[in-house]
Amino acid sequence: MQINGTTRLYAIVGNPVGHSLSPAMHNAAFAHLGINAAYVPIQAEDIKATVDGLRQLGFCGASITVPFKEGVMRWVDELDHTAIQIGAVNTLAFHRGSDQTIHCHGYNTDWVGSNRALADHLTLSGSSALILGAGGAAKAVAFGLVNAGVEVFIANRTHHRARQLANELGCNAVALEDIGRLQCEILINTTSVGMAPHDQECPIREALLPGFRVVMDIVYAPLETRLLRAARACGCTVIDGLAMLHYQGAAQFKIWTGQEPPAEVMRQALFSALQGG
Ligand code: ATR
Repeated sequence: MQINGTTRLYAIVGNPVGHSLSPAMHNAAFAHLGINAAYVPIQAEDIKATVDGLRQLGFCGASITVPFKEGVMRWVDELDHTAIQIGAVNTLAFHRGSDQTIHCHGYNTDWVGSNRALADHLTLSGSSALILGAGGAAKAVAFGLVNAGVEVFIANRTHHRARQLANELGCNAVALEDIGRLQCEILINTTSVGMAPHDQECPIREALLPGFRVVMDIVYAPLETRLLRAARACGCTVIDGLAMLHYQGAAQFKIWTGQEPPAEVMRQALFSALQGG
């Protein structure tokens, strides 16, 4: 790729951000489609100063990651309605307005990522899902599923957070000790349980896994978590943590370029970056 005076600039903003796989994914997509653009990691301290800086430097867009997804909302000019409902932004797009000032628009594509990852394997509308965890990731996943017509149950170590999230989204909270009584087709882990170096941990009793048809983990290091290994052994369809990452990135790419994202190229780039290549 040739960087020159017309190269469009994109960034991922987070802290830390050094291990992000997103630069590999987006740069591979730009290269594949011959788009003169570059996507760089930026470790931010102050999100307001960073958004101002991106605007001043002529960046066209940015991914926003931990810990800035909520805090960035104050500093954008317009918010997509789903970002408002989720209360978090993971995508910025900068456009020059008719008044020549640069406008910053905030979106959330995390929920798109989880819905698309699941929709590859089953019809969402009319199905049911148990979500483990009640943090920011759980909120985006649950929002997407509720809006796709899925009956959603949320279980969390700290039960009152599950209740609070369920109230916000109009779905159900269930105590961890009661999840064995549920009958859901889908199980999604949105907690960090199972992430290296704690990769021997599983967020649910493995004896409960045969009750699910599809099991998705948002943890991607390791790619095959203990949860997914055990679920596969029970005959469940498993969806690894790169699927949601890849589809949320594809939705960002579409917002930024208006072009169809090269899905397989993006997934392959993520996979290679994860392997360290
Ligand atoms: P994120 O925005 O990435 O979802 P978060 O808001 O910190 O991160 O939420 C992390 C989720 O993982 C929470 O639901 C958390 O449970 P608590 O609400 O009880 O803290 C869950 N989690 C993290 N570590 C866990 C562990 N060891 N066992 C069970 N749940 C855990």
